[in-house]
Amino acid sequence: MTKKKKYSLKTVQEVYSYWGKSLLSYKIGVCFFGYNNHLRRQVVENLKLRKGDTVLDLACGPGLMFNLLQEKIGSKGKIIGVDYVDEMIKQCKKLVKKNKWKNIVLLKQDAAKLKLKNNSLDGIISIIGLSAVPNHKAAIRKCCSALKKGKRLVVLDGKEFRKPFRILNPLFKLLRWSKSYEKKDLITDIKTIFRNIKVKEYLLGSTFIAVAIKK
Ligand SMILES: C[S@@+](CC[C@H](N)C(=O)[O-])C[C@H]1O[C@@H](n2cnc3c(N)ncnc32)[C@H](O)[C@@H]1O
Repeated sequence: MTKKKKYSLKTVQEVYSYWGKSLLSYKIGVCFFGYNNHLRRQVVENLKLRKGDTVLDLACGPGLMFNLLQEKIGSKGKIIGVDYVDEMIKQCKKLVKKNKWKNIVLLKQDAAKLKLKNNSLDGIISIIGLSAVPNHKAAIRKCCSALKKGKRLVVLDGKEFRKPFRILNPLFKLLRWSKSYEKKDLITDIKTIFRNIKVKEYLLGSTFIAVAIKK
């Protein structure tokens, strides 16, 4: 009997270096059934950012959130984009160069070992990021430490369909089979670490935005 391969940083490297090289297919893959712009804007609205703020985009991929974040923080603010995969960081660099942005720092790091100062961030987002991080609980703990008191972690991610749409849940098996999605209970894990959470469901319950505030 062959042993099931464990989802690991090696898997992350294999899967996301492929997606990082083929940006168009990646964008189609993360289109949230046409609700992409709406959901991404909701994430940024929920952060309650101000001009000059410093915000982390955790597992930032090719930087699809940078534009929206810039609108809120302005040129005096700072975006920190963290991703584990070189091909994703390369896409971010291209985007930064094209837009002549001077206030974005890109770090190639494992989110579970995030090296950022405690109490230094005004906001953190993660868009289908934490579900892709192998040791996501360590990453959530790092987020909690790096946030200033009263500031927010906002997560947009997937979960199983709610009743009566559960019949559609095998679709997630397909995503897991492609190894680009790992089943996790992010809502419970964020709630346990932050000791609070507000969740709004979208797309028949298969997608959620969670907001947690550092106490
Ligand atoms: C589905 S993509 C989401 C990208 C992006 N947040 C977006 O808005 O499209 C998941 C990302 O998580 C990154 N990732 C997975 N594990 C990671 C880890 N341990 N540390 C940092 N980034 C990681 C992958 O490289 C990939 O870019």
